[in-house]
Amino acid sequence: MSQDDKFKKLVAHCKEYGFIFQSSELYDGLGAVYDYGPNGSELKNNIKNYWWQSMVQMHENIVGIDAAIFMHPKTWKASGHVDAFNDPLIDNKDSKKRYRADVLVEDYIDKIEAKINKEITKAQKRFGDAFDEVQFRATNPRVLANVEKMETIAKRLATAMSDGDLADIKALVEELGIACPVSGSRNWTDVRQFNLMFSTQLGNVAGEEDKLYLRPETAQGIFVNFLNVQKTSRQKVPFGIAQIGKAFRNEIVARQFIFRMREFEQMEMQFFVRPGEEMKWYDYWKKARMKWHQAINHPAEKLRYHDHDNLAHYANAAVDIQFEFPFGFKELEGIHSRTDFDLKQHQELSGRKIQYFDPELQENYIPYVVETSIGVDRMFLAVMSHALQEEVVPDADGKDSSRVVLKIHPALAPVKCAVLPLLKNKEELTSKARAVFDKLKFSFNCQYDEKDAIGRRYRRQDAIGTPYCITIDFDTLEDDTVTIRERDTLEQKRISINEIEKIVNEGVDMKALFLEKEDQLV
Ligand code: GAP
Repeated sequence: MSQDDKFKKLVAHCKEYGFIFQSSELYDGLGAVYDYGPNGSELKNNIKNYWWQSMVQMHENIVGIDAAIFMHPKTWKASGHVDAFNDPLIDNKDSKKRYRADVLVEDYIDKIEAKINKEITKAQKRFGDAFDEVQFRATNPRVLANVEKMETIAKRLATAMSDGDLADIKALVEELGIACPVSGSRNWTDVRQFNLMFSTQLGNVAGEEDKLYLRPETAQGIFVNFLNVQKTSRQKVPFGIAQIGKAFRNEIVARQFIFRMREFEQMEMQFFVRPGEEMKWYDYWKKARMKWHQAINHPAEKLRYHDHDNLAHYANAAVDIQFEFPFGFKELEGIHSRTDFDLKQHQELSGRKIQYFDPELQENYIPYVVETSIGVDRMFLAVMSHALQEEVVPDADGKDSSRVVLKIHPALAPVKCAVLPLLKNKEELTSKARAVFDKLKFSFNCQYDEKDAIGRRYRRQDAIGTPYCITIDFDTLEDDTVTIRERDTLEQKRISINEIEKIVNEGVDMKALFLEKEDQLV
């Protein structure tokens, strides 16, 4: 199956099983805005809990906040977002379609990378076990020429972007012969800057002064609260402030499902450090965040670092953790060394002193900041795209049958355990199953399901990633034992009703994940 087909299946699966719906679908939808359904909201909450607990609960020196979406308009002037939070916009005059000029160039680079990968796959087939990819990459003339081409284009784009050289970005689009994917024409407008912030008005007064912005990042709520939090929590540098919340960006090109949305959620942590120590902490968080991703069984080969070619206006170093989505390696999380840019700017525009007195050094300074920033929705997409699998397994009669299974880490699964009476129309079975369900629901999210044959119910639970299914049959009525079926191994065991809670808890509890991966997460 091609990656494209895989991705379409994923989007269809998300809708069919109540994970994600297009927002306002009833009115033909709203571009790049999505709603989370019953299973989706459970999974999203679990992702947020995994992040929050690993940051706030597992670190004595990280505290959490929940700041408002609306902030004083000066916040965004100070942060640089009013002047510099722009994307280069270009229109195709024939199709009238709008594009991000830098994305057109990046897509062109991706196509060259795809050519390289095709070359490697071909050679792999030809040479079999004797194939040495590293050597092939280092010596094959076509690969080398394409790598050089990619690097030259990427470098020129990065320079033009950081210099705000819009004419050169347009020149690049033209020189590379990039055509509009819709009209096929190369008839482009000039490139112009487009500010990504959504704005609204405060109260009933219209005017620039009262213009409110929907926050494009949650981080500023942390910066403006730095003194409040530091004083009330009595934290000493180095310490962090974490937050999960909505952010809004008027993305020019919104595509790839929940990868790039106009309303999305971020999980951000600002780590305040002594000036001069920021690179030490940047390296620390770079490694720590990679481990966090791997701890929920995302394989190392699906994750990679990507240093920024083009630094944001506030950063002196920045790296992305990229994930291999069905449409290639793309940014999942950013780790940025933001220097003292934000606190200094807020100090200047507010006219209030934002300083920290370091009792060990006996001096005042504005702390430097290392930020980790990840989109909840992007993490959701990473989890779903890695977990969704189709495989052939033996059915109840031992014959091969195919199943769609969401092999999600049990701690993240929307439903932890399904309680299934063997037959629907046997009151003694259904009432026993109900009693088991009513006991378990206090400990974790359970589902009671009596509709359809047991095999079909198993498949339904597999498709939403339920790690355990409990079947109540006639033996249960005799001896209070049940069958517990494990999602991935399909192993079925007979256990006592009293053991269910302990077994499921051990398998799904976030605590177990933290204990098992403690060295990776703290
Ligand atoms: N405070 C820094 C900041 O916002 P960013 O790289 O612009 O940095 C951080 O965004 C993360 O937020 C990204 O790595 C991505 O996971 C997520 N994100 C950004 N824009 C997004 C969008 N339009 N839709 C979904 N997630 C987005």
